Amino acid sequence: MIIRGGTSLCGMVDVQGAKNAALPVMAASILLKGKKLTLKRVPDLYDIHTMSDLLRHIGITVKFKNNFMEIDVPDELNWDAPAELVRKMRASSLVLGPLLARCGKAILPLPGGCVLGSRPIDFHLKGLTKMGAEIDLNRGSVYASAGKLKGERIILDYPSVGATENLMMAAALAHGVTFIENAALEPEIVNLANVLRLMGIPVKGDGTPTIRITGVPEANSAEAEVIPDRIEAATYLIAGIITKGSVTVRGIDSGLIDAILLKLEEAGASIEIMLDEVTAKCAGPLNGVPVKTMPYPGFPTDSQPQLMAALSLALGTSVINESVFDSRLLHINEFKKMGAKIELQDSTAIVTGVSKLIGTEVRASNLRAGAALIIMGLAAEGETVVNDLCHVWRGYEGLPEKLRSLGANIELLD
Ligand code: UD1
Repeated sequence: MIIRGGTSLCGMVDVQGAKNAALPVMAASILLKGKKLTLKRVPDLYDIHTMSDLLRHIGITVKFKNNFMEIDVPDELNWDAPAELVRKMRASSLVLGPLLARCGKAILPLPGGCVLGSRPIDFHLKGLTKMGAEIDLNRGSVYASAGKLKGERIILDYPSVGATENLMMAAALAHGVTFIENAALEPEIVNLANVLRLMGIPVKGDGTPTIRITGVPEANSAEAEVIPDRIEAATYLIAGIITKGSVTVRGIDSGLIDAILLKLEEAGASIEIMLDEVTAKCAGPLNGVPVKTMPYPGFPTDSQPQLMAALSLALGTSVINESVFDSRLLHINEFKKMGAKIELQDSTAIVTGVSKLIGTEVRASNLRAGAALIIMGLAAEGETVVNDLCHVWRGYEGLPEKLRSLGANIELLD
């Protein structure tokens, strides 16, 4: 993408359905037997297509058009996930829990996804083992088997989003009641719980640290809607702020992005909320602020690179501590190529604001870093070329069109 910076972004964009809410819900369809799951507001993204292909390999029919998805699940399923799909996306690990619950067996090559340091799935495996699964790790794959999973009390060592989701789905067809303690609180967990409830599975306590799931013998067909994508919404708001413009995102519950909005206000941006619309603007530069990424409801790690992009032009210094993914600061070298002044101390970035960024050629190392580099390009002087955009297509539907509708001068090559 070639970005000619310097234009203030102004206008309104609609928020897509949340990628990170759609993926686990799609995986939850595996719990069905001879039943259907229909989903509205599914974003049209690479990761969604990867999950669709994974479900198809398992034997499930997936039809997807105009953000509407119909998933038709037969009586018999394959229980192995192919390496070429799983290695494309870490969220593929979400099929493990439901496959094991539904088929009593699952083979999962160890997953890939964004390069974010070592991202193990040990919490997922520990929880499934507690529920009675036998797990073998052999030649880079997980071989899991269980006669019938049993409800248990599981205490997560960390409120992992993926582990909470996997265990919720495993518990849905388990014998008895499962308690997941120190569960993740993310809105995507609540979305999954809502879908499980629509499937007839009693789930309580989602959105709190203790989730209680009563296993059922069979799940029912359901129709559901995916919640708005809080990270996408925040990305466009930050793009408006860094270009000294005014961007409104429509179709978002502002409560989902509270931590981000409060941080932007603390840095000097003005935020207006009207029903399902949020507007952010800032006529001058932001002020440096401290940031620490945390599990929800703290500041999300998925918005850290975009905020860092904006703070690289702030007045004063920002201390940004990345506490969720140790390697989610790899974008700093690319930021520096554009003139940002950033010093890395372990998992903390000390960002000293500069008065301008200069366009150059940079590379997206992962999804959110790619979005952040685009944001920087929009504010930089001259031309910025962002390579390896394949990462960005994993998470942002219609990004070039949305940016152009806000006035951005961008061109896509190849
Ligand atoms: C999900 C999101 C991702 C987001 C992250 C944190 C999806 C598809 N992805 O990823 O965009 O950045 O939540 O909000 O929803 N960990 C372990 N062992 C495990 C599991 C996790 O050590 O078994 C560690 C991870 O390496 C990481 C931390 O726990 O340091 C958080 O990971 P987790 O919450 O599981 O993130 P994901 O579910 O992978």
